[in-house]
Amino acid sequence: MYFSLEYANMCGIFGYVGKRADAGCIVVRGLKNLEYRGYDSWGVAYQVNGSILVKKDVGRISAVSADLFSNASNLALAHTRWATHGGVTQLNAHPHTNEDGTVAVVHNGIIENFQELKEDLLKRGHLFLSETDTEVIPHLIEEELRSSDDFALAVRKACMRFQGRFAILAMHTGSQTLVAARTGSPLIVGVSKETADHPQGYFIASDIPAFIEHTRLVQYIDDGEMVVTDGNSILFMDLKTGEERPKREVEIQWTIEQAQKGKYAHYMLKEIMEQKESIARAINQEEEEIETIAKAIRSARGTFLAASGTAHKACMAAEYFFSVIAEHHVNVVSACEFKLYHHFLKPESLLIVVSQSGETADVLEAIKIARSKGSKVLAIVNVQGSTIDREADYTLYINAGPERGVASTKALTGQMAVLMLIAYALKGALREGKQLLLDTVAQINDMLNPRYVERIEHLAEKIRQKNDLYIIGRGWNYPMALESAIKIKEVSYIHAEGFAGGELKHGPIALIEEGVPCVVLAGNDEVAVDIVSNALELKARGAYVIGVGPARRRPAFDEWIKVPDAGAAQPLVNIIPMQILAYFLAVQRGKDPDMPRNLAKSVTVK
Ligand code: M6R
Repeated sequence: MYFSLEYANMCGIFGYVGKRADAGCIVVRGLKNLEYRGYDSWGVAYQVNGSILVKKDVGRISAVSADLFSNASNLALAHTRWATHGGVTQLNAHPHTNEDGTVAVVHNGIIENFQELKEDLLKRGHLFLSETDTEVIPHLIEEELRSSDDFALAVRKACMRFQGRFAILAMHTGSQTLVAARTGSPLIVGVSKETADHPQGYFIASDIPAFIEHTRLVQYIDDGEMVVTDGNSILFMDLKTGEERPKREVEIQWTIEQAQKGKYAHYMLKEIMEQKESIARAINQEEEEIETIAKAIRSARGTFLAASGTAHKACMAAEYFFSVIAEHHVNVVSACEFKLYHHFLKPESLLIVVSQSGETADVLEAIKIARSKGSKVLAIVNVQGSTIDREADYTLYINAGPERGVASTKALTGQMAVLMLIAYALKGALREGKQLLLDTVAQINDMLNPRYVERIEHLAEKIRQKNDLYIIGRGWNYPMALESAIKIKEVSYIHAEGFAGGELKHGPIALIEEGVPCVVLAGNDEVAVDIVSNALELKARGAYVIGVGPARRRPAFDEWIKVPDAGAAQPLVNIIPMQILAYFLAVQRGKDPDMPRNLAKSVTVK
């Protein structure tokens, strides 16, 4: 099996080769920008006077000084890990080398047949130090180098023996080249052309933030391709045949400022505040394109929306948009459950996938299933050039700019805005939808002032010691209740659950006792009266009721977080104070909201 979505791990890899002599420092600095992809351990390998030096350790790369890697070097590779095979130990950290340290490799993904390859290598006398699957790679490359000293060929031949989904970077003391290969896991080349300010060189990374401070010129490595570069030129090849592949250079739109924390203590807060502008960018779509998509939905025999986590909650909200705004039925499925829906797919069906990263394995699997049935795929993604972007028949970008916090915030509102535009186009009222969203952007801009943020910070102080928190909503606020619970759980580790308001009396209300904080997400909509009744039911059982909505509902709410009345765009404004609340609960409980435990930004495991 050459390509599989069964397993892959979630790590960040980064390499540099070029005229700069501080390759070690470059990759360490870049790796700090990839830490959201995994933060169990880190490691660096760099060539100094023809030898490979390796430094690696458990813990976070953010705590490591780049100055430790100042030896003169033009070639380096680095890795930040989210452990799969083997515990979080120094020996299991990447890079891995062969015994004499002449080949070094970093790897993102899983070599599924590593056990049998390892047994074979052990019989041939190779010694292993780690429990990882990755360690077989440098040993296999060494084996291949016995019959030819062509390093790139040795890497290619070794790759042909791997089963699974992976991206690797490799270097060898016998050459000044960086070799990369990709089957599934993301890998992008950053091109630095010789100018007065920038020496010639190439960067290869799992994601753009690693090299954005050096260049915005990129070349995408596709699945089943490898690249070989000595820093002066680069060659793209088919991994199976070795045939050369032509490549375009693309200028990406992200700026360095967008990729950095700036004045904010955490990316999460920065990204929440950026919603003042990011929603406006999301709705700045070509009207003709949105109309074409609406037409495709109208004529499709079944439209399915599939996504994971927060993006799935955007799809759930969209189900209400399509129903209330356009009176059109769509099927919303969690991407990990999509496999069981294949019976309903036809060549005339349409699958809409939504993903911030564009790399989520469950979503890629849903695309694969739709393809096998001949259905068309529309992707709504943030990351241009991501695997989902490239796999889909058609893509709309939400243009949120890089989202670095593990907790997805601005991507959610961008996704909902684009889906709402499509719903309005389906109704034949695209301009009306666009105007509503533009008005909402202005309202959010007014709402997100320092006093507002401080109010929520104080509210967090009141409830931060609580063990449980419940959130209810109805209609399009129901998915926002679920989303609020995800945000609070993942960053503050407080047990939080979201429910449909009407479901309370079917079970969850048994959990309510004196003083339990309950958030009620309300709107000025057709379920407004019902959700206030649910708030009163909670209050009657002793809950401390925090209302989020455009109206102060006395006596139902003990606390009121005011949000603007945004009509159909209410879920976009209601979720923002909940994101802020989750952020402050995390910070006040001493947790790092940008890097919550056990999680990583791109979930490339099924
Ligand atoms: O990159 P994606 O939008 O496809 O990611 C989907 C989920 O993994 C993601 O939304 C996850 O649930 C976030 N950590 C939630 O904040």
